[in-house]
Amino acid sequence: MIIIEIVHLLASIILIYVKSLIHLIFGKPRKDISGQVAVVTGAGHGLGRELALELSHKGAKVALLDINKPGVDKVDHEIKSTGGVSCSYQCDVTSQTDVQKVFNQIGDNLGPIDILINNAGITHCTPFMDLTPQQIRKTFEVNTLSHFWTISSVLPGMIARERGHIVAISSIAGLLGTPNVVEYCASKFAVNGLMTSLEKEIHANGANNNVHLTTICPLIMDTGMFKKPKTRFNSLLPICSPSDVAKTAIDSMLKNDSIITVPQSAMAIYRIEKIVPEEAAQKVQDWLDYGVGSHKSD
Ligand SMILES: *[C@@H]1O[C@H](CO)[C@@H](O)[C@H](O)[C@H]1NC(C)=O
Repeated sequence: MIIIEIVHLLASIILIYVKSLIHLIFGKPRKDISGQVAVVTGAGHGLGRELALELSHKGAKVALLDINKPGVDKVDHEIKSTGGVSCSYQCDVTSQTDVQKVFNQIGDNLGPIDILINNAGITHCTPFMDLTPQQIRKTFEVNTLSHFWTISSVLPGMIARERGHIVAISSIAGLLGTPNVVEYCASKFAVNGLMTSLEKEIHANGANNNVHLTTICPLIMDTGMFKKPKTRFNSLLPICSPSDVAKTAIDSMLKNDSIITVPQSAMAIYRIEKIVPEEAAQKVQDWLDYGVGSHKSD
C-alpha cells in the first residue's frame, strides 16, 4: 500500500527533525577515539599538522604522512614530547604503490587503521588560461586521485572490522566556484562527489553502518596556500586559522557528521545561494567580495 509507505516515510522524516532538534538543544554526543590509529596526509605543516595534534590530543595514535620528511619529523617530535604516540613517514600520495607500501608499514608499526584523514592538497592560484597541463594534472593527482589510493588501502579493513572513519579535507571551493582557482575548485568538487557517492554506496551495501565518511569544507585559511585572500566582511566570511579549522573538523568527525563548512554558518549561505536565482546569487557573491587573488600578478 503506497499510502502506508508515504505515512511511514513522513513519520521517519519527522523523527529525523525531532532528533536534530534534540541535538541542537543538548548537543550531539561525541565518540571516543582514544587508542585508535589515525592517518593524516600532508601532516608536515599547516592544517595537517593541526589535525594531527588535535587527534593526538583526543588520544589517537597518529601516523604522519608528508612528501616532505623533515616536516613530519618535526610534528612527530612535537607529539611525542607531549606524551602522544605517533610515527612519521615520507609518502607521495600521488603514487598508488607508495601509498600501499606506507599503509602496510603503518599497519605493522601502529596497528590497523581506524581513521583516515585525506588532507594533502595543492593549488596554483592561476587564471585558467595561464595554467599548464602539468599544473592541472598535478592538482588532480594530489587533491583528488590520491583519495582513491588511500581510501582503497583502508576501506576493506574498516568494513571487515566494522569500524572506521574517512575524512576528506575539501574546501568551500568544493561547493562554490571561485575565479583564479578553477583547477582547484574542480578537484575539490570531485572530492565532494567521491565522498557523497561512496558514503551512499557503503551504506547501500547495508552490512556496514559503522564506517563513516565526513567531508570538511573550510573557508580560506591563512596557511600561505592562498597568498592573496580577500574578504569584505571578516565576521561573516572570515579568513580562518588552521587550528580552529582542525578543532571543528575533528569535532564534527566525532559526531559522525556527513558534511560541514567551517565556520558552520557558511553552510547557510551556500544553501541560500542554491535556492535563489543564479543571477541574484552572483550579485550577492560580488557584494561579499570573498575569494583569492592570482599569484601570478606579483
Ligand atoms: C558514530 O558512529 C559510531 C560507529 O558507528 C557509533 O558508535 C557512535 O555512537 C556514533 N556517534 C554519534 C554521535 O552518532
